[in-house]
Amino acid sequence: MTRLTDFACEPFSLDAIAQATGHVAVFVTPDGRMDQAARRADRLTRGAVRRWLESDGFAKVKPGEVKTLAYPAGLAAEALSLVVLPPRPQPIEARKAGAALGKVKARLGLSVFCGGRPRMAQLALGIALRDYGFDAHKTPPADQKPRGPVTLFHSAPDDLREALQTVLAMAEGVAFTRDLVNEPANVLTTTEFAARLAGMTSLGLKVEVLDEPELEKLGMRTLLSVGQGSASPSKVVVMRWDGGGKDAAPLALVGKGVVFDTGGISIKPAAGMEDMTMDMGGAGVVAGVMRTLALRKARANVVGLVGLVENMPSGTATRPGDVVKSMKGDTVEIINTDAEGRLVLCDVMWYAQERFKPAGLIDLATLTGAIIIGLGHENAGVFSNDDAFCEAFLKAARAEDEGAWRMPLGKAYDEMLKSRIADMKNVGGRPAGSITAAQFLGRFVKDDMPWIHLDIAGVASVTSDTTYAPKGATGWGVLALNRMIQDGYEDA
Ligand code: BES
Ligand code: MN
Ligand code: ZN
Repeated sequence: MTRLTDFACEPFSLDAIAQATGHVAVFVTPDGRMDQAARRADRLTRGAVRRWLESDGFAKVKPGEVKTLAYPAGLAAEALSLVVLPPRPQPIEARKAGAALGKVKARLGLSVFCGGRPRMAQLALGIALRDYGFDAHKTPPADQKPRGPVTLFHSAPDDLREALQTVLAMAEGVAFTRDLVNEPANVLTTTEFAARLAGMTSLGLKVEVLDEPELEKLGMRTLLSVGQGSASPSKVVVMRWDGGGKDAAPLALVGKGVVFDTGGISIKPAAGMEDMTMDMGGAGVVAGVMRTLALRKARANVVGLVGLVENMPSGTATRPGDVVKSMKGDTVEIINTDAEGRLVLCDVMWYAQERFKPAGLIDLATLTGAIIIGLGHENAGVFSNDDAFCEAFLKAARAEDEGAWRMPLGKAYDEMLKSRIADMKNVGGRPAGSITAAQFLGRFVKDDMPWIHLDIAGVASVTSDTTYAPKGATGWGVLALNRMIQDGYEDA
């Protein structure tokens, strides 16, 4: 399923440039200087590199961009890519250059002549992130050749190989999230989702699947009310990574896992409804983070919980006007069955706090269309009751080049959630739709619990290519959360 590239590290060799098959990449600086490998490629191609550097086109090129020359004379390769990068790039610069290379889709293999350049693991991460495709349901052409590896020719191949371990753990977490988010809902049922998560026990994660009778016993009626119209049973999956101190309270990650959102009885319009296969995006990110933590054996305690349900209309579905009781004990009048994500999250968030007494709580959800109106597809909405906790996340997101923008919370918005007959209703009306949704969740956060709510409806899956991903699922948030954990919850 996951089409993660194979990577190899080899000692740097100029002689390999002429012989390498597939695709060859060499570096030039933004001010048009060639390194040793680029000079060799230039000589072999009888000046092709220099002609580009001296062309008008090169004057407009920015660091991180890639120029590909097809079937270069003098090389065995089918293509030569010239990567524009300063000699000592910033991590994100190197990652972007890698993404530009990954976009080239060198199916027959890619040989990158790094010399002694730093940040080449970041370059590899960029390649791995961008060279992703979801081909699970495409019939391959009969004559398809096997994919070739990416070989990094570096003067310190052993050090680079070690650095690759960590970045490939990150890339694999992102790819796992993307595969889940891209998967159609007839394949990724609640049962299949839980099975894929249970499969991660082989990585050292502790995984528990709570089924409907247990959820009933726990009193998760708001979560169950969302799934009760579906033939697929509702589930909560708990994933634990205990890599930290024995007594250290964990960080809790909670994800919305609506495997398909028809809207329920408050049914959505037909146009675009197929996009609601991505409504488990929050759960997908939680799963991807847990996978990365396990793969890189993070020295932190983190618990990931996902609420897996399908929101369908049927004779057993919740009706608008129904009143249900949450695990916390508060009652909710369900005005609109399409505002279901908050009903799933509030029970799982409460359960996470009761059971794990976490040091902090972060929930992720494709929660509102309104956040797309507000922030588009560039930034996720960030809501928090704790400035320091929130800033730690925003800083990590900046460092990983994942867009995130803080939104307000406030008591005044609670007025909009008042119900005539229950403790609250599940929608607050059109104004401030993302904030009232966050405000609803806030009622299920215990006093003094540092909490961040991430509304990822706009960023989880997009309709055009991004820097790091082809169109479709992005895996937004896996890298930011992984970094936040690395920077704030691990002892060196
Ligand atoms: N899953 C949707 C939100 C969504 C919309 C995600 C577009 C991704 C893309 C959510 O369950 C929903 O339906 N929200 C409603 C809430 C409304 C009924 C208060 C919405 O945003 O319209
Ligand atoms: Mn909905
Ligand atoms: Zn939804």
